[in-house]
Amino acid sequence: MEKFIIKGGRRLCGEVEISGAKNAAVAIIPAVILSDEPCILENVPNISDVSISLRILYEMGADVQFLSSNTVRIDATGITEPIVPYEMAKHMRASYYFLGTLLGKFKRARVAVPGGCYLGDRPIDQHLKAFASLGAACTLDHGMIDIQTENLIGSQIYFDMVTVGATINTMLAAVKATGMTVIENAAREPHIVDLANFLNSMGANIMGAGTDVIKIKGVKSLKGATYAIIPDQIEAGTFMVAAAATKGDVLIKNIIPKHLESITAKLEKIGVNAEEFDDSIRISVDGPLVKTTVKTMPHPGFPTDMQPQISTLLCLAEGTSIVTEGIFDNRFRYVDELRRMGADISVDGKVAVIEGVPELMGAPVTAPDLRAGAALVIAGLAAKGVTEIEDIYHIERGYENFEEKLRGLGADIVKKSVPGSSTVRKAAL
Ligand code: EPZ
Repeated sequence: MEKFIIKGGRRLCGEVEISGAKNAAVAIIPAVILSDEPCILENVPNISDVSISLRILYEMGADVQFLSSNTVRIDATGITEPIVPYEMAKHMRASYYFLGTLLGKFKRARVAVPGGCYLGDRPIDQHLKAFASLGAACTLDHGMIDIQTENLIGSQIYFDMVTVGATINTMLAAVKATGMTVIENAAREPHIVDLANFLNSMGANIMGAGTDVIKIKGVKSLKGATYAIIPDQIEAGTFMVAAAATKGDVLIKNIIPKHLESITAKLEKIGVNAEEFDDSIRISVDGPLVKTTVKTMPHPGFPTDMQPQISTLLCLAEGTSIVTEGIFDNRFRYVDELRRMGADISVDGKVAVIEGVPELMGAPVTAPDLRAGAALVIAGLAAKGVTEIEDIYHIERGYENFEEKLRGLGADIVKKSVPGSSTVRKAAL
């Protein structure tokens, strides 16, 4: 295994380029199965979740060729068996998108039950409810979810809660169904819109993505397309917080400012300067960081995937901050690690109370999951002294060239192999 070693206390200054969005890529890559022709995807982030998604396609019989480091040509027309075995699916929670796309293409799918409950209970009842509404029989058979139907018929689906995954899976299953499917209480994240735009570029008929009602008129076939994935708003937000935590001055490039609105607004409330341009944003700090309250919500609210990062920043803000996790049951597992660095945080269920401290101290810590790991990197960059972070494979699932980008901004961060580490590689979120 490998770890990061960070010598903290250096201001991040300069420019950084944001990569393609992980949560768009892990939905769009399986969606290529729906096409009757090859597709070319651009701005694909070079991260392990994408590698796993492409590997699954390849193992199923697709032709996958990288035309450049971030452009990939996929011909999935060679796939005949709609099965994703446990050995392939166990490494990544988003493998469940293969359920929707295989059902949409073949009217049947067998995919291993997704792993990863790092954020608390993460059921998929809404996914199965949607598939059943479209006419599919869903059964659990030896750890495999088995869904099939004679015909996929468009229907009205109302989700009990806003769910990104179930919204995406329903779009994938419904795009070639007979008739109209209406999803109510749909998720509105930028990656939902990105998937809809990709599917429509192949000839699908999806309206309303980005609102809470999405209408999908089934079509008979989908042709090939060339499509560029949107920039990753969570990677951008992570760099914004890192710049603020080190009181740096960073220009974050290749972003869509509208996707960052809730993050920018919250940072400004904390006392951070944010100067927006067409496709970039400049973050700097010239005064004290001050307390605030945060509650994570579905988009366009403050994103849960930025909760560990903003909580880390608030550890260095004057006063008492309150952070409420509105989406997942257990997304504060990083707090114990921050406490080792001198943070003053107490957690009661879904609420963290953060007392600002003058500075954090470097310490050995372990990344419990992807975004918590990124938050610990931010803490290490801001801390006095050396921080060593183990289990960085979590971080590499969602951040392309993370330490290189940080070094480009002046951070003192290196990756080091750890012989014989006992950490068992756990399923991704
Ligand atoms: C997606 O997870 C993202 N993952 C997560 O990002 C993100 O945190 C989450 O959406 C919320 O934005 C990917 O896109 C690969 P949900 P997902 O379905 O789809 C409950 C990261 O760091 N729920 O929107 O699993 C669920 O338990 C990752 O990039 C049900 O009860 O999230 C949760 O409490 C972490 N039943 C809430 O809804 C269901 O059938 C929202 O979950 C589905 C969800």
